[in-house]
Amino acid sequence: MTKLELYREYPPPGEDAAIAEIVRISTETLRKTYLPDNKPVRRDQHVKDHGCVKGEFIVEDNLPPELKLGVFKEPKTYPVWIRFSNGFEKSVRDADKDVRGMAIKLIGVEGEKILESDRFGNTQDFLAINYPTFFIRNAIDYVDFFKQRANNQMIKFFFPGLNPFSWRLHEFIVANLSISNQVINLLETRYWSNLPYRLGSRAIKFSFKPSLITNTPASAPASDNYLREVMTEHLKTKPAQFDFLVQFQTDAEKMPIEDPTIDWDERQSPFQKVATIKIPVQEFNSPAQQTFCENLSFSPWRALPEHTPLGGINRVRRKVYEAISALRHELNQVPRQEPTGDEVF
Ligand code: HEM
Repeated sequence: MTKLELYREYPPPGEDAAIAEIVRISTETLRKTYLPDNKPVRRDQHVKDHGCVKGEFIVEDNLPPELKLGVFKEPKTYPVWIRFSNGFEKSVRDADKDVRGMAIKLIGVEGEKILESDRFGNTQDFLAINYPTFFIRNAIDYVDFFKQRANNQMIKFFFPGLNPFSWRLHEFIVANLSISNQVINLLETRYWSNLPYRLGSRAIKFSFKPSLITNTPASAPASDNYLREVMTEHLKTKPAQFDFLVQFQTDAEKMPIEDPTIDWDERQSPFQKVATIKIPVQEFNSPAQQTFCENLSFSPWRALPEHTPLGGINRVRRKVYEAISALRHELNQVPRQEPTGDEVF
């Protein structure tokens, strides 16, 4: 086998066909789930919105040259919208096992973006979930996963037969751990990008780490929507804050670009702070604000070239997020619009 090089992508044969198949299955499933009488059409994944909040993204002063790139180029404060979500394709009870998402949209980011449909927009998105790794290695495996899930036989993706060499035991463990981490307060939980991105010519993963911890209750309140309720109570009186951290790839084999099931060891390459995300005290539950949130679209590809997404699962996301966002907006007959930061609800 050839020795892997740092920061390089290695698309496997058959990837383009697999991506086309994932787009086909995702859009078909969305159309079937949301027949004409079932509106609004929601996202294909991360369906439940636990809250959309306004905040600020403050780039650190005096960053060293290797970090002073893209949106971190100069000390600057960007307004942001942040959407907290569940992970599954259904809107479920908050006590159910699931991952949680935190998607940040920076406003006022100048420069041409990669996303074709928003090339001259002025927003940049960063998406993360509350577990460091993703349970599917590549686009080809994802097709297999989709097919087994459609037949209600998801377990067969992990254990296709009696031969232990065909088992995806590592993926099974990652999948289970990622949904088993019960969150009580989304504002005091850590999130990871799972997947790599460029930072200039190098490769990084990023993470949002809470930096203001208050006395969140130790057990979850008994309500189907307790995550929104805890966040509402928190932001009535207290702000929230996260450090935006990046971790460089320093070993191409142990910190692979093409396998998001592998955690990049923090001891080998520690995370470094590049910005602070501040969420001030606010009320965020008005129906108008929830509709606004529903109509937002996030994509890792709404990005400056300095932050180009890397790896096969990100290459899948380039096509899927665009297709699903376009389809749900079309079926709901609402325009796809990026926020300006001046929204008031
Ligand atoms: C091949 C793998 C993946 C596929 C097919 C996929 C697909 C999707 C789709 C279709 C959406 C909704 C897009 C929209 O309608 O606006 C979405 C949202 C999201 N995805 Fe993924 N995803 C994948 C992997 C990941 C990974 C690895 C992460 C980890 C960071 C992630 C985090 C998120 C988050 C946080 C959202 C919610 C964004 C929002 O709040 O609107 N996804 N995903």
